[in-house]
Amino acid sequence: MTRQGCTRRKRIYGDRNKMTRIVYLNGEYLPEDKAKVSIFDRGFVMGDAVYEVTAVVGRKLLDFAGHEARLTRSLGEIGIENPFAEGELLAIHRELLARNDIEDGGIYLQVSRGNPGDRDFVFPDPAVVKPTVVLYTQSKPGVLQSESALHGVRVISVPELRWHRRDIKTVQLLYPSMAKMMAKKAHVDDAWFVEDGFVTEGSSNNVYIVKDGVIITRPLSTDILHGITRAALLRYVAETQIAVEERPFTIAEAQAADESFLTSASSFVTPVVEVDGVAVGTGKPGPIAQRLREIYIEEALKAGI
Ligand code: PDD
Repeated sequence: MTRQGCTRRKRIYGDRNKMTRIVYLNGEYLPEDKAKVSIFDRGFVMGDAVYEVTAVVGRKLLDFAGHEARLTRSLGEIGIENPFAEGELLAIHRELLARNDIEDGGIYLQVSRGNPGDRDFVFPDPAVVKPTVVLYTQSKPGVLQSESALHGVRVISVPELRWHRRDIKTVQLLYPSMAKMMAKKAHVDDAWFVEDGFVTEGSSNNVYIVKDGVIITRPLSTDILHGITRAALLRYVAETQIAVEERPFTIAEAQAADESFLTSASSFVTPVVEVDGVAVGTGKPGPIAQRLREIYIEEALKAGI
C-alpha cells in the first residue's frame, strides 16, 4: 500500500494509537474529525441531554441491558423520544467496537433533545426536532489492572450542590467536574457529596462502607444515580453470605468503618482507603472490597455480551 493509501486507511478505519476514531452520529459512522454537531444543539446550549457509559472488557460489553434500560428511563423522565429501534443500540455498540478494534475500555453514548435552530428555553416540537445521537469508543488497554484497584483511592467530602434529580443521568456535569478538581487540588483521587450530614454518592460513582462484615450503602431514590454496577453487584452479593444494609451513612461512619469501596462502569469495584485525611480500616484495600471486585468482574464477564 502507498503511504498515502495507508494514511487514508487509518483516517477511515481509525487508529487506536492516534485516536482517530470512527464515531457514530445520527445514523452515520464517521471519522471523529468529521462528526459535527450544531452550535444550537440543546445538549451544548442547555445541557439538555442524557448519557451512558458501558464498559468493554476483552471485547465484551458489561451490563449492556442495564445501561440500555436506564437510558430508556432517563429519556422518559425528561421527555426525549427514544431514538433507537429494538436491537439498534446493541448493533451500534458492536459496530463501533469492531470498527475501532477495541479490546478494553468503554463506549460513551449521548442523546440530546436536538437542534431547534436557535436558543429557546421552551422544548422544541419533537415531531419537528429529532434528538442528536452520539456514540464513541474509549480505548483503555488493560483496564482491569488499574493502580486504583491495587492501592485503593483517597477521597475528600464536598457539599452536595447538584440538582435534585440525580437519578437521571444528564450531561450536566459541571459540579461533579468541579468536585473532581477540588479533589485534585487536595492531592486525592475523588470527592464524595454530603447532604444533610449524609453521603449521597461519589463524583461519578456509588459508594459503600463495610462495618462488622455488613455492606452499607445509600438506598435508591432521586438523591443518587441508580448505578448499573451497583445493581449488578448487589445481585451477586445476594448469592453470598455477606449482608447488605441500604441506609445513608455519614463521613464519621466511613472514617470508622472497616473498609470502603465505590462502584461504576469505568472503575468496576474499587477500594476507598482514606476519607477526609483519615485512613479507613488498615488504610489498605480491604478483603471484602477485593473479593467483591473479583466477584463483580467474574460474573459481569460471564454475563457480558
Ligand atoms: N458515572 N453515580 C454517578 C454520579 C455517576 O456519574 C456514575 C457513573 C455512577 C455509577 O453508575 P454506573 O455503575 O451505572 O456506571 C454513580 C459514569 C461512569 C461516568 O460519568 O463516566
